[in-house]
Amino acid sequence: MTEKAPEPSGKLRETILLIGFMGGGKTSVGQSLAFRANVPFLDTDEMICEKEGRTIPTIFEQQGENAFRDMETRLLRELVEEKENEKGAPEWTPQVISVGGGLPLREENRELMHALGRVIYLKASPEVLEKRVEGDQSRPLLQGGDRHAKILSLMAAREAIYEDAADISILTDHMTVRETARRILAMARSV
Ligand code: S3P
Repeated sequence: MTEKAPEPSGKLRETILLIGFMGGGKTSVGQSLAFRANVPFLDTDEMICEKEGRTIPTIFEQQGENAFRDMETRLLRELVEEKENEKGAPEWTPQVISVGGGLPLREENRELMHALGRVIYLKASPEVLEKRVEGDQSRPLLQGGDRHAKILSLMAAREAIYEDAADISILTDHMTVRETARRILAMARSV
């Protein structure tokens, strides 16, 4: 379905970073939010794949997870540097950035995210997440074996980190992409 054209009043005052587990809706909510706010949308996974000319499964297979984590940190450092160079310039504009599910795990990355903007955790229950990633082959950490158990154990290891890294958490279990984007926009305008 096509969304109504954005209103200029919807512009964000600061960059919004969306964090959360795989399947949490970061990319779809991010796209909808950016469209509504009429600001650019960035996706760290997509930017890394573009830079590398490889898919995430290929990067994991060829170089391992740690190398991918280094790429995430490098990318964040570049974005912070760009922001610092552009700050105060008339062409500076806030952005919506959807970040890979494992990116907030590094402390340096959490600091870099806060240097970029406001961090929002899109939270969902394991049952909902499992449904949303059903059949997905693009996420190396969910391949092979018992997917339900993988999600539960990754969630157990990450939940507190996501909560801690976030300025705001939103439970999205019963919300559509559009509702979630609207909620974020309303919050971003009022703070
Ligand atoms: C990962 C999440 C993925 C991607 C990579 C690792 C993770 O991004 O960065 O497969 O560790 O949770 P999404 O959260 O966008 O699926």
